[in-house]
Order: sequence, then structure tokens, then C-alpha cells
Amino acid sequence: MSDHTAFTEKYGPWAVVVGGSEGIGSAFANELAHRGINSVLVARTQSTLDEAADEIRAANPGVEVRTVAVDLSTPEGAERVTWATDDLEVGTLVYNVGSEPKYGEFIDHDWEMLAGRLQRNFVSKARLVHHYAGRMAPRGRGALVLMGSVAGFGGSPGFALYAASKAFSHTLGEGLWFELAKHGVDVLTPVVGQTNTPTMVKAYGRVDGAADPADIAREALDQVGNGPIWIEGKVQQLVGDRIGSDPAERVRTIGERAARLAAGNPVGVS
Ligand SMILES: NC(=O)c1ccc[n+]([C@@H]2O[C@H](COP(=O)([O-])OP(=O)(O)OC[C@H]3O[C@@H](n4cnc5c(N)ncnc54)[C@H](OP(=O)(O)O)[C@@H]3O)[C@@H](O)[C@H]2O)c1
Repeated sequence: MSDHTAFTEKYGPWAVVVGGSEGIGSAFANELAHRGINSVLVARTQSTLDEAADEIRAANPGVEVRTVAVDLSTPEGAERVTWATDDLEVGTLVYNVGSEPKYGEFIDHDWEMLAGRLQRNFVSKARLVHHYAGRMAPRGRGALVLMGSVAGFGGSPGFALYAASKAFSHTLGEGLWFELAKHGVDVLTPVVGQTNTPTMVKAYGRVDGAADPADIAREALDQVGNGPIWIEGKVQQLVGDRIGSDPAERVRTIGERAARLAAGNPVGVS
């Protein structure tokens, strides 16, 4: 029995890795393959998808990899992913894509660019989470990994919409962690800092001391059952104070309070 049998049984047999052709996304798909899970890689560029898929297959004989070339910043993008995976039992969704290579103030960006980011980082994300989580819950198992960032803990001038989209991931992920626990579905928001990925290196150059995508993917998957949030070691000090000492307890308290309110029981104002 392989070391990863329990992991594969809980989170396999297929994963959908959105933004899976390079950087942290392809690292996730590689690590999932190493643990025996097949992947559907989603990105816009077919050639880089093919390269990533070939590398994963070569390194992990027996593991299947499919690709879907689609733009998640368009309204139909997410639906196309659901159609392309209709015949698969998807046990893991990694919504990885989300970096912002364009520094700039909100009003200086074209609206078309911002609308695309809203679609990719909010709407498509919510749509795919809704689709796959809705199928995982009746099976009583599965995982959602919604990439977060240090930027999601406060306003970031120059990256205002990006930071807001990361806050969306954190907050959505925490709420779903509570809601889906009773269905056996794990939810994790990995909070990471600077990582040398192709997107970031192309835009801003290589950063000495930045994290390695493979380490992020491996450590995040090790923590997938320990949600709601995992903070990468290098940024723990930076975000520690902002997140509180026990995020799980904080979310549970809010969840139980909301359930009491919904059941018609007064909850007070504290
Ligand atoms: N790298 C960092 O320093 C850093 C720091 C903190 C948090 N994070 C988080 O980590 C996650 C991954 O970051 P990353 O730097 O690896 O790169 P990323 O740019 O978020 O993701 C790159 C991947 O997404 C695909 N992609 C980009 N736009 C797409 C679209 N509209 N539709 C479909 N696929 C699309 C890319 O392929 P195509 O271009 O071919 O589409 C590629 O496969 C993000 O959520 C980011 O917020 C990263």
C-alpha cells in the first residue's frame, strides 16, 4: 500500500487545477500526480498546457492528464471547464490562477482588463467551486484549495482589485470550510508570499529568497485537511497578528452563531 493511498482515496481520482500549466499550478498537478491523482489542467495556452501535461505523465507513469484551453476571464470560461470534466469524478479542485502582473492604480486600468479580472478571480472561481463542491458533498469526500495571498489581509495600493480578490478567497474559503465539513469535504486557503513563478518573474524579475512553487504545492497539500487556512512559513510573522491565534475556532463561532440566528434564536450583539 502506497503512502498516499488514503490521500488518493479521499481526494481522487481526478483533480481540476485551474491555472495548471505553470508556476504554483503545475507544481500542484505534479504533486497530486506523485500522490496518484489524475489532473485536468486548465489555462489559456494549449502549447504550455501540453508541455506541462507531458512532463507530469513522464514523471508519473500511470497517471492521466487532460488539458482544457479556456479563458476564465470570459463569462463562458467556467462552464466550458464543467462540460469538459462531465465524465470525471473530480475529488479535488485547485483554483490556483489569480496573480496580478500589472501594477497600476484602479482608475488607470482599462475597464475591460478589470472586468476580466473580476470574472477570473471572483465569478469563475465561485462558479467552479459551486459546481465541484456540489458533486463532492454527496460523495462525502473531496477538497477545495483556493489560493490566497498575504495581499488579501488589507488594501494594497497599486494592486487594489487583486488584494480584494485574495480577501474574497480567504473569506469564501473559511465559510465553505465550515459549511462543507459536515459533508466530509476539506477546504484550504493557502496564504503565500512572494514565489518565483513565471508570471511574477516575467513581470517583476526573480526575487532572491522567494518561495519555490514545488514547496508551496507540497506543503499546502500536506495541510489540506487542516483548514481553513494555511500560512506559508516565510510569511507567518507578517500575517500572524492579522489572522488571530485560532482561525478554525473563530469561523466555528461565527458559523454556530449564524445557525442560531437562522433558527430564530437570539444571538445578542457581541
Ligand atoms: N507568485 C507569487 O509571488 C504569489 C504570491 C502570493 C500569492 N500567489 C497566488 O498564487 C496563485 C498562483 O500564482 P502564479 O504566480 O503561479 O501565477 P498565475 O498567473 O496566477 O497563474 C498562472 C497560470 O494561470 C493560467 N492563467 C492565467 N490567466 C488565465 C485565464 N484568464 N484563464 C485561464 N488560465 C489562466 C496561466 O496560463 P495561461 O497564461 O496560458 O493562461 C498559468 O497556467 C495565484 O492565485 C496568486 O494570487 C502568488
